[in-house]
Amino acid sequence: MRKPWYSIFYIKSPITKIGLGTLAVLAGIALVLFLMATENKRMEAQAASWDGRSIEKGASLFMANCSTCHGLDGKGLPAVAPALNSRYFFSQRIDDVGFSGTLKQYVGGTIHSGRPSKVSTQWVNIMPTWSNQVGGPLREDQIDHLVDFVLNWEEEAMAQTPEEDPWQFFQDALSKQLPYSPDEPGYDEKVQQAIAAAEAAGAVGYEIGGMAVEAPTEGEAGAPAEVRAPEDLFNSLGCVGCHNINADQTDDNKGPIAPNLGNLADHAGSRVEGEDAETYVHQSIVDPGAFVVPGYPNGVMPQNFADQMSEEEIQGLVKWLLSH
Ligand code: HEC
Ligand code: HEC
Repeated sequence: MRKPWYSIFYIKSPITKIGLGTLAVLAGIALVLFLMATENKRMEAQAASWDGRSIEKGASLFMANCSTCHGLDGKGLPAVAPALNSRYFFSQRIDDVGFSGTLKQYVGGTIHSGRPSKVSTQWVNIMPTWSNQVGGPLREDQIDHLVDFVLNWEEEAMAQTPEEDPWQFFQDALSKQLPYSPDEPGYDEKVQQAIAAAEAAGAVGYEIGGMAVEAPTEGEAGAPAEVRAPEDLFNSLGCVGCHNINADQTDDNKGPIAPNLGNLADHAGSRVEGEDAETYVHQSIVDPGAFVVPGYPNGVMPQNFADQMSEEEIQGLVKWLLSH
């Protein structure tokens, strides 16, 4: 019988067969690796253009919603709103406020909820609430774009000399340090400026750049805010809208929206192992998620009461709740 023409492809030697098989597998792996490498580059390019688009969207949102207070260039307006395009903001701000997350979270959180609760502030208006989850006009994705846009100032802001930094002193900042070194041009002026602003804002007992801010004399602006009575706090902060302080928490009536607080003292000491009643109630107010009362969802009770009261007021409220 005549061999067919393709018999030249017949391989008899098993060694050659194994060799060819191995080669084919290796070629397959190489191809996959090659595709992975190029895909990564493609993805990176895609992500970069995605970021770019997000920043652009953020820019137009900022112009429309934020620039009237924070300035077109984000450098703030005197007495109206603080600078965001600021070296201080990028290097020191979250330390000053004692925020433990990232700057990104700080910016996102601030835009989301605003600072609607501030009772006394050095600025003409409060920072509004923006998220439509809490009654504001913007969607979460728009807030993400704004965060990208604000954070995109970092490079520009970090190149500012102390003199160029448009940062204005915050009344509530615990600034003991400035993010500049004393041999940078403009350092002394910045310290003087910060001290003057701190005094104007009524700050007491601050030390800025190693220099003490004098406590204002009696009768001047800056007297400590009055301590509000627990009952007033309970009403004005909206606790009363969720909690009934005059009803007891019983097995068949725990409280429709939130636990009744009438007999709080009876069980507060046994909620969390190792926490006495006062510690537990204090924690329930400043960090409601730490222990969630069974039968209620987490996250309903606002998480930001610590920002709305002084420590003294919180302690007063705790005592009042436990003795009511
Ligand atoms: C009505 C004026 C006003 C508008 C409009 C406004 N802000 Fe603010 N913003 C403020 C004030 C005042 C503060 C400072 C609040 C305080 O006392 O802590 C602030 C604080 C901030 C902070 C935190 C700054 C810091 O150092 O703690 C960020 C971030 C911010 N605003 C972003 C925005 C963005 C983004 C928009 C637009 C969606 C916006 N703001 C619109 C007034 C405004
Ligand atoms: C929007 C509704 C809401 C508001 C406003 C609210 N709470 Fe609550 N609170 C809850 C819910 C729901 C729980 C139970 C879930 C949990 O533990 O987080 C709770 C739990 C508590 C507890 C623990 C009760 C227990 O039996 O262990 C205390 C104490 C408390 N809140 C105090 C306060 C105080 C004080 C305020 C005002 C400064 C306040 N709450 C405002 C909803 C609210």
